Amino acid sequence: MSNNDWFDLSGRVAVVTGGGANGGNGHAIALGLARHGADVLVSDVDVPGAEQTAREIRDLGRRAVACRCDVGVPDEIAAMFSLLDRELGAIDVLINNVGIGHRSRPEDLSLADWQRVVRVNLDGTFLCSMEAGRRMIRQGRGGSIVNISSIAGSSALGRGNFVYSVTKGGINQFTRELAVEWSPHRIRVNAIQPAQILTPALKAMFADPRLDPSRLRDRLLTGIPLARLGEPDDVAKAAVFLASDAAAFVTGHLLPVDGGNLALNAGGSRVWPSDS
Ligand SMILES: NC(=O)c1ccc[n+]([C@@H]2O[C@H](COP(=O)([O-])OP(=O)(O)OC[C@H]3O[C@@H](n4cnc5c(N)ncnc54)[C@H](O)[C@@H]3O)[C@@H](O)[C@H]2O)c1
Repeated sequence: MSNNDWFDLSGRVAVVTGGGANGGNGHAIALGLARHGADVLVSDVDVPGAEQTAREIRDLGRRAVACRCDVGVPDEIAAMFSLLDRELGAIDVLINNVGIGHRSRPEDLSLADWQRVVRVNLDGTFLCSMEAGRRMIRQGRGGSIVNISSIAGSSALGRGNFVYSVTKGGINQFTRELAVEWSPHRIRVNAIQPAQILTPALKAMFADPRLDPSRLRDRLLTGIPLARLGEPDDVAKAAVFLASDAAAFVTGHLLPVDGGNLALNAGGSRVWPSDS
């Protein structure tokens, strides 16, 4: 195998949740996997968005299937994997990309909102991973599961991200435990921890008056040594790496794609005061 083949996903089948064509991380990941050769089932609650991503993948010469799947609804997850069996007949890569939040002060957060976020972020990741893992175990050729976590899984964000962060912390430990449990089957389980990425979800934050949008960008950038916000393709590159044989000896890993955010101590800074 030449070095050029390390990232080759030809002949592999991937499932990407929340992969609708909205310019978000799932969209970029689905296209990134397809550019490296994968056939892709794209699901989303936004069906026209999923269909658009599937068209973009077919234009790259790969097979693609689109479907609705709300990962907060177990029956819709089961239906998505039945469709996968019928249309693509295998699975090598699962990207658990969907993640929602509910911004609220902890003392004002209702049980219903807590449970809705837990259902989508944690139950959804659990159920999709079990459907994928059982198939990978039966196939007997290993596989790769990539969970889209967040820097919020390892450090606190404040600003009402309480339940979101708690679920991302859960995804981090889900990743480690499952990596160990499924290592005998050569199913690798890893997570990506993005910092702030310029997706529609982040753009919506810039429109939230409670967050003082005029100062939000500067506030975010003080925590990012590489001094820029992320792009969805930054996340997609890491996902292609973790999905591919380039990461054959990588499992149970949490990969920050964060411009150095998790490396930076809150009291640290990217430049010497004398240089600024
Ligand atoms: N954008 C960031 O700054 C950032 C930072 C860290 C982590 N992340 C993580 O990246 C992932 C994707 O985030 P994004 O910013 O691209 O999100 P987004 O909201 O822009 O897009 C997510 C997609 O998921 C779909 N979706 C929403 N709820 C769904 C559900 N219940 N079932 C199926 N599909 C659903 C939406 O229709 C949309 O197409 C999430 O897990 C998020 O937590 C994002």
